[in-house]
Amino acid sequence: MCIGGSKQELSVSLCRLHMRGRVVLVRSLQKADTFLQRSIGTDVAAAQAEAPPRDGSDEKDGCKSLHALQVERQEQAERSVLINCQSRTNEKKFLKYLSNHGDIKKYFFYESYGLYAVVEFAKRENVASLLEGAVIPSVSHESTVPFKSRLLSLRNLSLVDLSNQQSGLQCQPQTTIPINEFIQRLSKEESIDQQITSLTEAYQLTEENSRLRFLVCSLLKDIAAAYFPECTIKPFGSSVNGFGKLGCDLDMFLDLDGISGRNVKMPKSGLSLEYQMKRANSERAVTQSILSVIGECVDQFGPGCVGVQKILNARCPLVRFAHQPSGFQCDLTANNRVAMKSTELLYLYGQLDPRVRSLVFTVRCWARAHGVTSSIPGAWISNFSLTVMVLFFLQKRSIPIIPTLDHLRDLAGPADKSVIEGNDCTFVSDFSKIQLKSNTETLEQLLCEFFEFYATFPFSRMSLNIRKGKEQNKPEVAPLHIQNPFETSLNVSKNVNATQLDRFVALCQESSWLLQQRETNTPRGGANMTTAWGLATLLLPSQVAGIKSRKKRRREPASERIKGLLESLKNKNQPKTG
Ligand code: GTP
Ligand code: MG
Repeated sequence: MCIGGSKQELSVSLCRLHMRGRVVLVRSLQKADTFLQRSIGTDVAAAQAEAPPRDGSDEKDGCKSLHALQVERQEQAERSVLINCQSRTNEKKFLKYLSNHGDIKKYFFYESYGLYAVVEFAKRENVASLLEGAVIPSVSHESTVPFKSRLLSLRNLSLVDLSNQQSGLQCQPQTTIPINEFIQRLSKEESIDQQITSLTEAYQLTEENSRLRFLVCSLLKDIAAAYFPECTIKPFGSSVNGFGKLGCDLDMFLDLDGISGRNVKMPKSGLSLEYQMKRANSERAVTQSILSVIGECVDQFGPGCVGVQKILNARCPLVRFAHQPSGFQCDLTANNRVAMKSTELLYLYGQLDPRVRSLVFTVRCWARAHGVTSSIPGAWISNFSLTVMVLFFLQKRSIPIIPTLDHLRDLAGPADKSVIEGNDCTFVSDFSKIQLKSNTETLEQLLCEFFEFYATFPFSRMSLNIRKGKEQNKPEVAPLHIQNPFETSLNVSKNVNATQLDRFVALCQESSWLLQQRETNTPRGGANMTTAWGLATLLLPSQVAGIKSRKKRRREPASERIKGLLESLKNKNQPKTG
């Protein structure tokens, strides 16, 4: 059911906006589904027995709470295995062999340091049966750690069809094309709105990539379960908040709430038994020791896990490593429930109106293209801070597109109550209670206004606050102050220095200006179809925001800078003579 669903009191615009979002979602799911239908071989018994679900079932994802989505994906992942195949694996024989252990619900192939298949069985028993039949690798001069996992290698030579040089396997891409190549494609679009939608569709996480992320969490959980059998490992951050780009890192959260007794009611009278447990000085010390041990296990026993680093003294202790079979850079944390709440909140905002996702996505890509954000920690603006900045801007429209966090808290029911380490993290989980205003601004308008907004924002005095949807006087000295939505005494952009903020502002000024010029905001017709225009122009290297030339340019009046830009654009677009 859509957010609007049967609640008549919900505004028509809410449903209309949802339908718009669904069109994008349905289109990308159709692509995935077409592939799945094509790749489930026609004469594979297992695949025929249960055809992949059609769009209708997956489409509901658009209205599911993050919690419901996670439960469903985790359950799928538990029934899945990851198999390293040989490059000329015969697909039909491979599936036939696997289907001896049970029905295959879905599968796909991808490449990452070799060819891999993700195979989802109908039942967990099927996986158990498959593992039962798997053998320990025979090695001549090395030894192996006898840890059995659901990461397997296909070794049966008779399954390799050597007569067929071209395997013909369709691989699902897990990375994106470079932005400079994509700029040409963008230039062929007919409007800036279409460019934004096209960028979002091309770079967002695919259905397969999302499945792979949950599967990696599930494989990691099998390792952690050696110590904590009731634990779960959940993805958070951009892997699940709706703003993830193909290739983004995989943030994972080791959830021990099932064991910690946090959610268990103590009996009020009579006898009862309690576990004797080792005590530590603080919750942080417990997190550090758990991560230290799990990190050691991942390092020593985790198949495919390489470059393990334990970063236990960070504000949020973590274990970082690369999972080679998936190609994911992984960060494993524990006791990080506030970050999980931030993820839920971002997901909710992204689901409320499709323009939220598209705008956040576009601004994230724009920022990355100009080096405003980076995957390396430093004084730059983080993707999380940037997302909060977009949300704040959307709250500040004259007709707000999204509600404030305080409003979402006021709509919360008793089951939504959440206090983490003394911080109120309560907000509504039932989307149908949220009534949106009927703002009809286009993506092009919003993008342009976003740049205008931050080109002139009084960063030196004011702090951004999405709880109230208002700027407030800065409580402390920092170039950029964005109040942490849940730990309200913290600044999420504390790391950002003045140079990086200046670059961001200069880029916003430039992009806002570019979007107001006829030369850049109208599509090129005819032979000039590949000349960059609109969003494509914004992704090209900047002319004003280079750090080295920044000081010199600062002294120029803005009008001079703009004149210079205009001249350079004119020269670029003039037909060459002689
Ligand atoms: P990318 O990995 O850059 O694609 O984006 P991301 O949103 O996953 O960011 P990141 O990996 O840096 O952080 C993961 C999640 O941790 C974020 O989505 C937030 O939920 C949370 N997080 C990151 N930084 C902060 C912060 O400064 N404060 C708070 N409260 N949460 C943060
Ligand atoms: Mg991340």
